[in-house]
Amino acid sequence: MQRIAMLGSGFIGRFYADSIQGYRSKDKIVSIYSRREESAKKFAEDYKVSHWTTDMETAIAHPEVDMVCISLPNNLHEAAVMLCCKHKKAVITTKPLGRNGEEAKRMLEAVEKAGIFNGYLEDLVYTPKFIKALESVKNGALGRILWAKSRETHPGPHSDWFWDIEQAGGGCILDLGCHCVEITRSYIGKDIKPVEVMCWADTQVKPIDAEDHAIGLVKYENGAIGQFEVSWTFRGGLDLRDEVMGSEGTIWINSFLRTGFDMFTTGKGADYVAEKAESNTGWLFPVGDELNELGYNHMFMDMFDAMEAGTAPKESFYDGYVVNCILDAAYRSAKSKLWEPVKLDIWRGREGVSKDSHLTEYDADHYLVKEEVTHYGAKKVIIKNKVTGKISEKTLE
Ligand SMILES: NC(=O)c1ccc[n+]([C@@H]2O[C@H](COP(=O)([O-])OP(=O)(O)OC[C@H]3O[C@@H](n4cnc5c(N)ncnc54)[C@H](O)[C@@H]3O)[C@@H](O)[C@H]2O)c1
Repeated sequence: MQRIAMLGSGFIGRFYADSIQGYRSKDKIVSIYSRREESAKKFAEDYKVSHWTTDMETAIAHPEVDMVCISLPNNLHEAAVMLCCKHKKAVITTKPLGRNGEEAKRMLEAVEKAGIFNGYLEDLVYTPKFIKALESVKNGALGRILWAKSRETHPGPHSDWFWDIEQAGGGCILDLGCHCVEITRSYIGKDIKPVEVMCWADTQVKPIDAEDHAIGLVKYENGAIGQFEVSWTFRGGLDLRDEVMGSEGTIWINSFLRTGFDMFTTGKGADYVAEKAESNTGWLFPVGDELNELGYNHMFMDMFDAMEAGTAPKESFYDGYVVNCILDAAYRSAKSKLWEPVKLDIWRGREGVSKDSHLTEYDADHYLVKEEVTHYGAKKVIIKNKVTGKISEKTLE
């Protein structure tokens, strides 16, 4: 059983509370911290939390609390983590870990020095579709992973602080790119070093200092490429899609806008449809069980199971730190218009991995380029001579 202090009673704090208390009923939020008394009280009432406070440290230090869940704006993550270290409380924090790599590094070093359990709440690597897809990738169904793309776009966040670059630390690159980077990094292999990033970013629509639209490429040491597409200006709801391409296969995942659930309503008696849905009339695309589809249930299960087993969860502060460093390089590239190196002072994966051979043997003298069965029934092979480099084709019987 986990007894949790929830810091923050907003959008994600409530999603987390629904998941934590909705399924594994043994886990319980025992203290809620919110900035405003009325929000803390309302949360306490809604989730039957016995203790509420408007003082963060009081919630963290509460004697019944085993684990602290940080659901606060990005600029408050570090201070909350430091208080958890001070009181030696296990800590799990929402994404992004920090506003930048430096903040994330300080948090990582602090929790490790304090010797406390730390988990990074990247829910999108815990969705049922992602878990199944990653299993297929790990089992080799796609062969060598060449490219992994993740897209998260929506019409923009729901609270003022996201739009303020100082509090948020960035725009859609940081807010949404952190998900995409961890998804694609997982498909490519979390032990493979990200080496450099090329990114385009612009403020196309919103009256803000941060970027509201960006596309980035993350190059990995083994030659694989990750891609993120993020936007706060996309119209039509929450578009969450992944594509993975390997030498032997492909995966396409649509996690939110097209889940196979289409509904039409005239709007009479219309209701909540799904996160960031822009309409509740006409043809709609609801999501069956958002808590599950967005990965929250599997994520908390992993966090709590790991904490109880004394092991590390699948996503730790270290992963949050790597993601922040990749995004820092994206910001630098968006300015310099050049490939920018990923600066990782702490790297725990493999070193010096070279690009895998892309050559497929056909026979002693040739590499295979392609096999083809044509519409007129011929079976051909296209091959390349290993010595001369000459490309030729053979029609087989
Ligand atoms: N899928 C996800 O993992 C996901 C989704 C949304 C948000 N988030 C993350 O969750 C965190 C919170 O986002 P949210 O959407 O819940 O925001 P929100 O604005 O809905 O809620 C933030 C909470 O923090 C409190 N707060 C705001 N400013 C504060 C201040 N200056 N001092 C103390 N408390 C303050 C608010 O009162 C509220 O309780 C962010 O880091 C965000 O990136 C993660």
